Amino acid sequence: MIEICSDVFYVGVKEPTLRKYDLSVNTPYGTTYNSYIVRGEKTALIDTAPTNFSDYIENIEIPITEIDYLICTHSEPDLSGNIEKILDINPDITVVASIAALRNIRQILNRDFKSQVAKENGKIDLGNGIVLTLYNVPNLHWPDTIAVYLERNGILFSGDFLGAHYCENGVFDNKIYNKDILKTAQKQYFYDTFTPFKSFVSSALKKLSPLNIDTICPSHGPVLKETDLINKYSLWCADAVTEEKTAAIFYVSAHGYTKQLAYIAKKMFTEHGFNTEIFDASVCDSEQMIKSLNSADIFIFGTPTINRNAAKEIWNLVTSIDLINSKDKSSFVFGSYGWGGEGVQLIHNCLKSMKVNVFEKPFTCILKPSDEEISKFKEYVEKFITKEADNIK
Ligand SMILES: Cc1cc2nc3c(=O)[nH]c(=O)nc-3n(C[C@H](O)[C@H](O)[C@H](O)COP(=O)(O)O)c2cc1C
Repeated sequence: MIEICSDVFYVGVKEPTLRKYDLSVNTPYGTTYNSYIVRGEKTALIDTAPTNFSDYIENIEIPITEIDYLICTHSEPDLSGNIEKILDINPDITVVASIAALRNIRQILNRDFKSQVAKENGKIDLGNGIVLTLYNVPNLHWPDTIAVYLERNGILFSGDFLGAHYCENGVFDNKIYNKDILKTAQKQYFYDTFTPFKSFVSSALKKLSPLNIDTICPSHGPVLKETDLINKYSLWCADAVTEEKTAAIFYVSAHGYTKQLAYIAKKMFTEHGFNTEIFDASVCDSEQMIKSLNSADIFIFGTPTINRNAAKEIWNLVTSIDLINSKDKSSFVFGSYGWGGEGVQLIHNCLKSMKVNVFEKPFTCILKPSDEEISKFKEYVEKFITKEADNIK
């Protein structure tokens, strides 16, 4: 146990060699799974560690039988993974979490346990002046997330919020050797974890703003004595508000036929006042494309058919659409083909099943677009812009 302040201890575990988190997030600096003990007359454990950390319980240097509450900031198994072991040792512990998190934890443990629903502003009085206040902060980044505040010491146990995938020897940010890398990791973590949830981040920042926060104890990365990260989150949340509507066009083209259509669409969108970006998905930087894809009001995809399929690069983009924030966006699919033309239809169908607002049928031409096909494509794009794009707020 490492003391954070009197009665508050760090009991987390570290995974410095982790290079991929949650399937898709790169973690070049590893990560930590933070867990905390708060002791008054009663004792609370806040979060646990992944199941594969069998030595986690040894970090808790007090007898598990002395723990009264296990507070879960959210139910994700990286931090709830050891609940089962803890409850095996001490089934009298009361698990405190949001209603949704309690339901999820029951689905993970597949058994019942003593529980208490974390109500908004709910208090857990541990005695000796140690009172924990609970706040619902949904979608940071699981829907069932709460934050826990210890007023006596100004400590916010923030869950995934305000964390970082960063692992060094120490626990505190002011003792970190490589502070610049920590800053990079914090920004990348925000981008990877919270981009789809910026409105929820803003709401949580507003809700927590009256608190006097001296120390942040997140689920991942160092304990923060420097609380400036809260201001940075506000900045990173504030999307540049622009009156201009934006369109992003992504295409792949072996012989230039689909590309020809893509540039016709680009010209038309530009003429209709859209700030239009166009990307050859076979060569452009994928991070940049995904940023544009998810910030544009309209995104369209051009693909030839290759061996009865769409181009892999277009599939990659389709799988990167932020579906949480795409409900007001519009799209269409176009492309050249030789004989079957399955590629465009596959992308169109996929967008439809993802509930993206995808236009009519996809537009196709056979091999090099003829003058007639070009006219038809211009009519198609014009109709799309009139019918769909003008609805964009
Ligand atoms: C390796 C390869 C496989 C192809 N497979 C198909 C196919 O399965 N079905 C089809 O309709 N066209 C197929 N085509 C034809 C292309 O879709 C066609 O040439 C198209 O016009 C290419 O457009 P682009 O210049 O925009 O890439 C294939 C072409 C290549 C090079």
